[in-house]
Amino acid sequence: MIQWSEKMSVGNLIIDQQHKTLVDLVNKMYDAVSKGKGDEAVKEVLPELVNYTKTHFDYEENFMKQTSYPNLAQHHKLHQDLIRHAYDINDNIQTGQFFSSVTVTGFLKDWLMNHILKEDMKYSIHNAASV
Ligand SMILES: [Fe+2]
Ligand SMILES: [Fe+2]
Repeated sequence: MIQWSEKMSVGNLIIDQQHKTLVDLVNKMYDAVSKGKGDEAVKEVLPELVNYTKTHFDYEENFMKQTSYPNLAQHHKLHQDLIRHAYDINDNIQTGQFFSSVTVTGFLKDWLMNHILKEDMKYSIHNAASV
């Protein structure tokens, strides 16, 4: 489970709220995995997670544009790679191919935590320095 903490805050209320929603969705999968219901939960939650992630990435990239963040292109690529990968996983799952809910959930948790703490924090620092 991911425990939200202040060190994950990027200093923007709306984006923090979106990140918390993403954390909640991943935690929902985690909770189900721990109760032996991971496969059903991943199948059900993943499309919602992918959709919400797209909405969040759009909002975040727009924020970076507005705050003249210099590494937007690089950040956009990281977002795109994740979306592609998540679509692939989702396609495989929804077409009935074998998957491990533990692996999928672990991957999403690691990606989200690393991305917020390492990549999103970069625009947060840039924005804090320029105001
Ligand atoms: Fe991001
Ligand atoms: Fe983000």
